[in-house]
Amino acid sequence: MSDLRRRVEELEAQLAQQQRLLAIGSLAGGVAHDFNNLLTAILGYASLLKEDPATPPHVLEAVDVIEKAAERASQLTGQLLGFARKGEPKRVRVDLHQVLLEVVELLRHTIDKSIRIETVFDASDAWVMGDPGQLFQVFLNLALNARDAMPEGGILTLQTALMDSRVQASVIDTGVGIPKAIRDRIFEPFFTTKGAQQGTGMGLTVVQRIVKSHGGQLEFDCDHPPGTRFHIFLPLAHPADSAPRAGESKPASRGKGAVLVIDDEEVVRQVAARMLKGLGYHAICLENPSEAVEYFRRRRQDIDAIILDLVMPGLGGKACFEALREIDPQARVILTSGYSLDSSVETLIGQGAKAFLQKPYRVQQLSEILSKVLAP
Ligand SMILES: Nc1ncnc2c1ncn2[C@@H]1O[C@H](COP(=O)(O)OP(=O)(O)OP(=O)(O)O)[C@@H](O)[C@H]1O
Ligand SMILES: [Mg+2]
Repeated sequence: MSDLRRRVEELEAQLAQQQRLLAIGSLAGGVAHDFNNLLTAILGYASLLKEDPATPPHVLEAVDVIEKAAERASQLTGQLLGFARKGEPKRVRVDLHQVLLEVVELLRHTIDKSIRIETVFDASDAWVMGDPGQLFQVFLNLALNARDAMPEGGILTLQTALMDSRVQASVIDTGVGIPKAIRDRIFEPFFTTKGAQQGTGMGLTVVQRIVKSHGGQLEFDCDHPPGTRFHIFLPLAHPADSAPRAGESKPASRGKGAVLVIDDEEVVRQVAARMLKGLGYHAICLENPSEAVEYFRRRRQDIDAIILDLVMPGLGGKACFEALREIDPQARVILTSGYSLDSSVETLIGQGAKAFLQKPYRVQQLSEILSKVLAP
């Protein structure tokens, strides 16, 4: 009987854990979604300034920094969304060395000088397929754990090597090591030895999930004291993998026609209007989906394309899409959302939506999608 009771208690504890994860997941998803709306405005205006020949060089420099920071923020929200299981992670060619250098760059400015950071990049090729934001998160988490393990200082080494068709990336510290007694538990959600204020215990849980989703492997050892070595193995990208490289973009191309933007966020409408105008389009931006449907009913001859936010109060994006298509089955609707592409978007694309525009988007992406959708 007491065995049974213990089992019930265990299951209750597991359930509580899962509920906690679910709650965090939905919170994270909501925050990330709102954040992407704000980032649409930040990145949108930044891209407008960059395209403007009248922008002076010293302003361009500032805009570059704003853009980089907003891009990083957007990758982090992508992370949160991934964690909330909304949407798919990206799959692009990523240079792992570049990711590691970015982690080093961030650490150099933020961690104590008593920790020396070294890079030993022995891999001649470190291109993998994956999500640059998520991979950044992996190595940042491992590096922060290494930092925490070296309160008195030490050496943090980021090392790569080629192993057959895989690249090995290691995060090595000279810290306190992981006691035998807890080695089985470090990947458990919320397992931490750092106290409630300092650690969530989610770092390694997230790391493990991301590595798995990239088809990789994760190992650690404390066989060379002092300290700990974490090793990540990821399959090398096939040279023929033709997915776009992270950060690649073409210059914006101009077009003409009228575009109806339906979005409940004012900042998004503002920046969309500015971008569309700059590209040569006429923009009509409406906040209320029901009013937008009515507008389209009256003026459908004059509208060439519609950019429709999927997550709106009142008449939701899906119902709005259906109403628009009922008025005009040929309506060229581009879906947009602060969440990533997921099965509900795919369903609407199956029903005739022309494209999906992930927020935050920049003027280049907007122009590219519009010229595709409006191509005769
Ligand atoms: N490099 C390391 N050296 C020593 N102990 C480690 C190392 N990496 C992880 N650990 C141990 O594993 C535990 C779990 O790590 P994890 O990254 O999941 O959570 P955390 O670092 O405690 O909190 P968070 O990452 O959320 O801030 C840590 O609390 C620590 O005890
Ligand atoms: Mg951690």
